[in-house]
Amino acid sequence: MLADILAHGSRIGVFSENESLLATSIQAVFQQPEVEVVSIYNRQGKLLREQRAVGVAATKRTAEGTEGDDILSKLEELSSSLSSQYIDSGESMEFWSLVTISSTYPDAESLIIADHPQPTQKRVIGIARIIVGKAALNRRLNVMMANSVLIGFVFLVLGCIIIYILTIRITRPLNRLTSGVQMLGEGNLGEKVSVETEDEIGRLALAFNQMSASLQKRETEKTQLEAQLRLSQRMEAIGSIAGGIAHDFNNVLATIMGYAQMGRLPKADEGSMKNHFKEIIQACYRARDLVVQILVFSRRQKLELHPALIQPTVEESLGMLKGPLPDAVTIQQEYEPGLHYIMSNATQVHQIVDNLGRNAIHAMTERGGTLSVKLCEIEIGEGDPRLSNELQPGRHQLLEISDTGHGIPDTIKDSIFDPFFTTKEPGKGTGMGLSVVHGIVKSHGGKIEFDSTPATGTEFRIYFPVHKEGAEQTDAAPSVTRPENILFVDDEQSLVTIGTKLLQSLGFSVVGKTDGIDALEAFQSDPDQFDLIITDNMMPKLTGLELAREVKRKRPDLPIIVCTGFSHTMSDSTIEEHGIDALVTKPLTSEGISATIEEVFAE
Ligand SMILES: Nc1ncnc2c1ncn2[C@@H]1O[C@H](COP(=O)(O)OP(=O)(O)OP(=O)(O)O)[C@@H](O)[C@H]1O
Ligand SMILES: [Mg+2]
Repeated sequence: MLADILAHGSRIGVFSENESLLATSIQAVFQQPEVEVVSIYNRQGKLLREQRAVGVAATKRTAEGTEGDDILSKLEELSSSLSSQYIDSGESMEFWSLVTISSTYPDAESLIIADHPQPTQKRVIGIARIIVGKAALNRRLNVMMANSVLIGFVFLVLGCIIIYILTIRITRPLNRLTSGVQMLGEGNLGEKVSVETEDEIGRLALAFNQMSASLQKRETEKTQLEAQLRLSQRMEAIGSIAGGIAHDFNNVLATIMGYAQMGRLPKADEGSMKNHFKEIIQACYRARDLVVQILVFSRRQKLELHPALIQPTVEESLGMLKGPLPDAVTIQQEYEPGLHYIMSNATQVHQIVDNLGRNAIHAMTERGGTLSVKLCEIEIGEGDPRLSNELQPGRHQLLEISDTGHGIPDTIKDSIFDPFFTTKEPGKGTGMGLSVVHGIVKSHGGKIEFDSTPATGTEFRIYFPVHKEGAEQTDAAPSVTRPENILFVDDEQSLVTIGTKLLQSLGFSVVGKTDGIDALEAFQSDPDQFDLIITDNMMPKLTGLELAREVKRKRPDLPIIVCTGFSHTMSDSTIEEHGIDALVTKPLTSEGISATIEEVFAE
């Protein structure tokens, strides 16, 4: 462009070959710092004017050494196409541009002769050349490049900052919403998200807050409803158990009342009197069993586990079941020899057999059948499908109680262990049997499961962990030293009388006391005279526990049995601390107290 401007600007100078005019045009070109040499030639190739930048060697005339003929040939070459040209010579660049003029008259004669101007024609009158140093150009190029990079970088940084700000503005409410949803998911129902904008996210946050509020409202309603449901379930349960207890107790009372009244009849002879008393005692046993059931269920009956063989208890319980056994029902028993001890409580094992046995007999009342009881030992290894939270690997005693009764319909299989669930008529069953059994099995560290096919029968299986691998059953019963002299203490005179008589009927010699202090004095007068003390706990002057502590100071070996209404009032540590050997629940029965005495002396 510079060469073209120079060629155009130097038209008149070339035409008139006026050096000073050319010098002015050339001077203007040197405004550009990278221009090194500027030359202007006429049409004949004669150098009209040439100028160099300061410091450019005189020898550096042209990149290709163009001179004379070369100029002419260059003129011819460019004139044919009337174009400019540049030549890159490595260090510098040469720009060639033709100096042309336009004329409407082709020559001098036509200026005078021609009537009409001819169409304008371009005539080449010379050529201009500019040599530009590449180093300077490169420098400018580099500066431009550096500037471009810098500007690009600045724009990039600015762009990033803007994008970052925009992203933050968009994502902050989204993040808040997300964390709100997360909190909601974790159960913080009151969680609210601040609504900052009115766009979609703002509307979403608003909707979220409304949802959270309504969820919270529903949760409150749900809690209230649950509480109401629990309350009504409890009321229903209490009603159902109260109904069952009332019914059973009424029956017991009616029996006692009936036989007692019959005893008062003037005609009663000794034989019928004995029968009446027998019936009254039976009725009292039923009432006692009912109380035990309720206590076990409400977990107020303290569960004491001792290493023992359960086979005798199972056999004994089955023997007791034979009483209510319909004719068409037979009992089969099978015991594996060499069974081990298990940590168990005889009363409760009895409860298990009794409840399962009664259920089985009830299921067979109409058609009759067989009640089979089997006790054996099995090894439950790792990977056994029966393993669960309740059943750990190891040796177990398996008690199977099965019947050929009507079976359990599939629809109620999930409910039979529920407390108060019964299919018996109102007043006939409490529905607590299986739930009591389940509780006992659990407290023995065992597991209960069952299979039942309607019309074919039902099988209950109970797994008890074996106490010690090595503790094999020995045929010889543990040697028991039987006590002879017993001190019996209770603050109620009537209970002392009954207790004394009961123990005497079992063959013991008994001293009865109605006061803890009296009892202690009787003991202190001759500490070796008694082999066993049986005492009530709640006594006004000296409690059973205090009496036990005093006695144990003198004779730590003297066994003490404490009678209680509810054993839950005594913790294990209290019992241990006072050296109590056993607890019995009131009312005392001859079987119960003799079993406890036997247990204490066996230990
Ligand atoms: N061996 C069985 N055969 C058929 N059904 C059974 C058997 N054992 C239990 N059931 C069903 O399970 C229900 C609940 O038994 P559970 O022993 O808990 O209470 P119940 O026997 O009805 O009442 P209760 O034990 O107080 O007399 C029974 O009513 C009965 O429907
Ligand atoms: Mg039952």
